[in-house]
Formats: sequence, C-alpha cells, structure tokens
Amino acid sequence: LGQSFIFEALDDESRKDLAAFAHVKRYTAGDIIFDMGTPGQSMMAIAEGSVRVSMPTPSARDVTLSELHPGDIFGEIALLDGGERSANVRALTNCKLVVVERRSLLEVLNRDPALSIRLIELLCQRVRRSDERMMEIGFLGLPERLARLLLRITVTAPGTEEKPLTKLSLSQSEIAEMIGNTRETVNRCLRKFQKADLIDLKEGWLIIRNREGLEDVADFV
Ligand code: CMP
Repeated sequence: LGQSFIFEALDDESRKDLAAFAHVKRYTAGDIIFDMGTPGQSMMAIAEGSVRVSMPTPSARDVTLSELHPGDIFGEIALLDGGERSANVRALTNCKLVVVERRSLLEVLNRDPALSIRLIELLCQRVRRSDERMMEIGFLGLPERLARLLLRITVTAPGTEEKPLTKLSLSQSEIAEMIGNTRETVNRCLRKFQKADLIDLKEGWLIIRNREGLEDVADFV
C-alpha cells in the first residue's frame, strides 16, 4: 500500500488497519475488473500491471478515459459515494491489485485526516483532467488533440518522467478510442505527422521523432 501516494502519507497504525482488511487479487490481460453501472464496495491500488478506464458510447465503441499504472488508485468513486461504478475497468496487462474494502477505509478516514486529504487531492486531479479533456474534445481540432495525447502518454507511462518514452506499441484503434475519433481519421492525421517528420510509424510501433514539433502542434489552440 505504501507504493501509492494515497497511502504513503498514513501513519503506521492507519496503514496496519487498512492492510489487515486488504487482500490481493490478480487479473490476466483482457480481464474485466468491473463494469460501469455495477455496485462497488471496494477500491483498488495497482501493485503491478496497468488497467484501462473506459466508458461505452452510443456507437458501442468504448472511449478510454485513462490508463492507470502501478501506484495508481481506482474504484474510489463508488466506494465513497455509495453509487454505481462510474466507468468500466479492464486489465491491460496481467495485474496484481490490492483491494481495500469500504468498511475499513471509512474507519481509517474517520480517524486520519491525511487519508481524506490525499483522496481529495486524487479527486481534484481527476476533475482537472476531465475538464481539460472536455475542452479538448469540444474545442480543439484532431491534430491538436492527437499531439497532446502523444505527448501525454509518452510522459505518463511508468518510470519515464525524466526520460519520456519515444516508442509506443499502441494500435491506431486504441489511439482513436483515447481521443474519441475513428481509426481512419486518426490514421490520416498520423500520416500527416509522419510526413512532417514529427513521428514515424514502423512495424506496429509509433516513434516520436520531434517532441518540440509535436508541442508546437499541441499548443496551436
Ligand atoms: P468507480 O466509479 O468506483 O469505478 C470506476 C473508476 O474509474 C472510478 O471509480 C475511478 O476510480 C475511475 N475513473 C472514473 N473516471 C475516471 C477518469 N476520468 N480518469 C481516471 N479514472 C477515472
């Protein structure tokens, strides 16, 4: 639990209490962890692997809201407000999750303000990100959104904060799901980026060739 920024601030007693009621669950790549609209009484911290948070759309295509990695938390919304799961969560790779049940989390929340503050910080981050996304989808053109996505995912992948990833194994359908567009349109735009030598597309890999150039496209609002 200490791996996650939510729990690292807790004192030993709180951490012990949470750990006493937490359990580990493993999933294989592609597994459904839970579906939007189902009841939820637990929150998960990712110990190993990555998950995708998505939402079904009227066209039956899922739109990716976020990809989460080791140290990230999910499932806090239904746990805190007692409502249904607000999104689908799937295992992108084999995953090891630490599951914390509502009862033990609420007990620690009542006693330790550090946990409430961290959870509020997490929710604030998610609201900021959702606002940004809403603005991007509503007001930016495809090249700007695509450039922003490429820049974002190449710095948020685990362990790459200082040295951004430059090579991505991501299908064009996956990219389209992330920015709420069709694969064909995304393909046309990626080809334009390739012609401008901003990226390269080779054997299923997307290679970032000119980060500054992509930043220029992304800033063009
Ligand atoms: P919960 O609603 O319990 O189940 C789905 C989870 O997905 C939700 O809690 C959050 O943890 C996570 N989630 C929902 N929306 C987003 C988002 N926009 N970005 C990142 N994670 C999200």
